Amino acid sequence: MPAKNIEELVSLCKRRGFIFQSNEIYGGLQGLYDYGPLGVELKNNIKSSWWKSMVYDRDDIEGLDASILSKQDVLRYSGHEETFTDPLVDCKKCKSRWRADHLEQDKCPKCGSDDLTEPRPFNLMFKTNIGPIDDGSSFAYLRPETAQQIFINFKNVIDSTSKSIPFGIAQIGKAFRNEITLKSFIFRVREFEQMELEYFVEPGQDEKQHEYWLKQRLDWWEAQGVPKDKLELYEVPKKELSHYSKRTVDIMYNFPHGLEELEGVANRTDFDLGSHSKNQNELNISSKVRDNKDSNSKLAIKEPHMDNWVVPFVIEPSAGVDRAVLAIMNEAYREEKLEDSSRIVLSLRPHLSPIKAAVIPLKKNNDEMVELAKKIKSQLQELGLGRVILENTGNIGKSYRRHDEIGTPLCVTVDFESLENSDITVRDRDTMKQERIEIKDLNAYFLKYF
Ligand code: GAP
Repeated sequence: MPAKNIEELVSLCKRRGFIFQSNEIYGGLQGLYDYGPLGVELKNNIKSSWWKSMVYDRDDIEGLDASILSKQDVLRYSGHEETFTDPLVDCKKCKSRWRADHLEQDKCPKCGSDDLTEPRPFNLMFKTNIGPIDDGSSFAYLRPETAQQIFINFKNVIDSTSKSIPFGIAQIGKAFRNEITLKSFIFRVREFEQMELEYFVEPGQDEKQHEYWLKQRLDWWEAQGVPKDKLELYEVPKKELSHYSKRTVDIMYNFPHGLEELEGVANRTDFDLGSHSKNQNELNISSKVRDNKDSNSKLAIKEPHMDNWVVPFVIEPSAGVDRAVLAIMNEAYREEKLEDSSRIVLSLRPHLSPIKAAVIPLKKNNDEMVELAKKIKSQLQELGLGRVILENTGNIGKSYRRHDEIGTPLCVTVDFESLENSDITVRDRDTMKQERIEIKDLNAYFLKYF
């Protein structure tokens, strides 16, 4: 049973150290959040799981980690300078600003007035200055999507890896958008992370590959604890498609505030590689691209079976890390009635749990017990499964509740018997069942479990 409302998740995130308001001690900064000790682990685990499925489990995808600051040329030829806008309206009465396409009945959501300005395009890209001279000529954009840096590195990757199509380039990294209206905690923010794959295919193979990637992505979400029956596919209508897209299907999830986009899977055609290419007239580019006089690279391929240079088509699954955190936490959240109390449990898939196990000595001041617990903690940490902690609070019940709430799948308790018999108790988060295991068998138990 997911959370009843977003407040339950916000409260858990703050209380246990997953997510904090950014710049909080100075009054906060809207649309920005900081990931705390547990949030950073969860986020890293989600990213690792995506990277593993995209890069390590396959041989046709390479990774990239490119710069966030982008030259104006990149975002001019990509079409973002011209089209990456939202319609902005001002309320003449209370002076607030809104996205025109998010208004209900054309009324100001703050004061209810219908005295609004005509919508005007507002570009969402952040600008900054590069170097010591701020004369307006040396500005750079903070990238609004990670994708463009993948396109402009296409030739570098091809030349250094000898890849042939179909093949992909994967990247995880920050993106920035000066959103007019923010939404629902970390759902729509101004600084966020994306996990993007640009998969390059031969023209004509694009529609089949689009279907293939949609299926792959649904399978991946299911393996992260967001089952397919909680996801819906939304065929983006032609008139709402981004300037580069031939077809986009959004993977929608029922967030606590409603059904919204979790990931987009787009067919970007040959638009981006074609746009960033030199000698465009030698290439058979099917998209309408701006004349490029600045690029020094031909972003096309010619393989032995090809008569001419070909600009590959691109299939792009693009998922937001922050939205993934929200959806995965929401699916894992449940409140359970016990005989005489209740508990909150975060039933995260073990590979995503911020803490894999807590080792708890029954008595906080018993040196022998604490020493043994420390030894077991190090032994389990060495397995490389993720973070294992020593929880020396002396209050076993409270420790179990805390670890249920933050999604720790296993708790290992060291007690008096452990000192005599070299065994410990392992408690399972979901079933609350406890079993006695010999310390010598613990590594094998953990390796099997994870
Ligand atoms: N490269 C394609 C692209 O950027 P998009 O649909 O604008 O497409 C892809 O973004 C994903 O990035 C979205 O599905 C969402 O998960 C995430 N995303 C976009 N804008 C966001 C925002 N303001 N805050 C949080 N996540 C965002």
